[in-house]
Amino acid sequence: MGKERPCNLGLTFGDVLLEPGYSNVIPSDTNIDSRFSKHIDLFLPIVSSAMDTVTEDDMAIALALQGGLGIIHKNLSIEEQSAQVRKVKRFESVLIPDPITVFPDVTIKEVEDLMSYHNISGVPVVDNKGKLKGIITKSDLIFEDDKNKKIKEVMIPRGKLITGEKGISIKKAKDLFRKHKFEKLPLVDKNDKLAGLITLRDILKRKEFPRANIDKEGRLYCGAAVGIGEETKERAEELLSGGVDCLVVDTAHAHTKKVFDVTKMLRRICDKDLVVGNIVTGEAAKDFMKFEVDAVKVGVGPGSICTTRVISGIGIPQLTAIQNVAEALKGKVPIIADGGITFSGDITKALAGGADSVMIGGLLAGTDEAPGDSILLEGRRFKVYRGMGSVDAMEAGSKDRYFQTGKLVPEGVVSRVPYKGPVSEVLFQLAGGLRSGMGYVGAHNIKELREKAKFIQVTNAGLTESHPHDVKIIKEPPNYEIIR
Ligand code: XMP
Repeated sequence: MGKERPCNLGLTFGDVLLEPGYSNVIPSDTNIDSRFSKHIDLFLPIVSSAMDTVTEDDMAIALALQGGLGIIHKNLSIEEQSAQVRKVKRFESVLIPDPITVFPDVTIKEVEDLMSYHNISGVPVVDNKGKLKGIITKSDLIFEDDKNKKIKEVMIPRGKLITGEKGISIKKAKDLFRKHKFEKLPLVDKNDKLAGLITLRDILKRKEFPRANIDKEGRLYCGAAVGIGEETKERAEELLSGGVDCLVVDTAHAHTKKVFDVTKMLRRICDKDLVVGNIVTGEAAKDFMKFEVDAVKVGVGPGSICTTRVISGIGIPQLTAIQNVAEALKGKVPIIADGGITFSGDITKALAGGADSVMIGGLLAGTDEAPGDSILLEGRRFKVYRGMGSVDAMEAGSKDRYFQTGKLVPEGVVSRVPYKGPVSEVLFQLAGGLRSGMGYVGAHNIKELREKAKFIQVTNAGLTESHPHDVKIIKEPPNYEIIR
């Protein structure tokens, strides 16, 4: 594939299948860990699209809890987008960086009121310079009848406290909880000033999501999109100060001077991962390698709501685009395959073709966590899903993704997708399909999937044969939907 010819062949997911190979791999034993970018790993190689009908804080939280990642869209004011990032970063964070504190002279009554108001079971005690003096918890107060007593008389004093140093890893904190059998671990800096709090309750809550994608302080990973307009620098700075883990420069065509300039500027100010897209050629991939980006996003026109290819005549079918970029980058920069995933099998094909993760819009847009309410139409529930290049979305802010000003030439449509309930169910089915594919190929992990993958091109008749055919489906399974 890919030899220079007057007209090259481009293939996409529906054009190929992966050949089954000898296997001793059980799907449930496969390891689907991957990476999003140079410094952000994934336990589920799925990322939600930076679209205003797909990813806001709720979706980003849900994706990260399941091991993936959400990229918060940028059709929001700078303040709103960064507030959403902060919400994801604070969500049931194992580390509370600025816990509620009290002074040693407050009364038991005051601290009890405070604890019940904030629904917390303990409070670190500090002096007016922020130095840790002790901790007071509900269990220390059970037998205290004199509510006017000062808490310094009943708190656990500094000398008897187990503390952790600022920046302690979650693993080390867990070891301390295990060893000393207590519930609250105050963190201190080298001057003994309070620098955070880790609670056993929060660590146990995290057990419900053992594959959650968290940073080393135990906070969920979260990405956010930036554009290429005048406000980009200010937006990026605000997102970075909100704790965002990666900035994703979101354009329909990144291989342009304008995006090079924005990338250079962002590389200077961004100490977190910087991802740029979209590209589809090896040449573009090599150019972006020079700017030391942490991942590239691949796809021009494969999206379910995209009209770019028919409106402009431009694009490369998605599997060939992934292979073009993978061949150029040789694993040095992670690849996100963006758009065109219609079934879980497409994820297997995208990863086998060289992608490290897939970005999905349409298949996630019908879930509870996507922005917007569901609508009832002829007895079925739907949600609205619109292209960022649709007139409606561009008027709401995404014009610069398509380099447009003034009167608009849309490159996307407004659509409806079936309502699907919680996104966790959809992700479970998508991951299950990927695992099943890896089992057929005989791949224990994604690296082996790539090494063992043998694609076979299919004809239209082959594609028809692949789908249910010559029957009328009377009961839809949860992973195969007929869009009406
Ligand atoms: P899926 O197939 O998952 O694709 O729905 C989502 C991806 O499509 C891209 N996108 C667009 N592309 N016109 C386009 O040409 C649009 O209006 C548009 N909106 C989104 C985007 O990369 C997204 O992640």
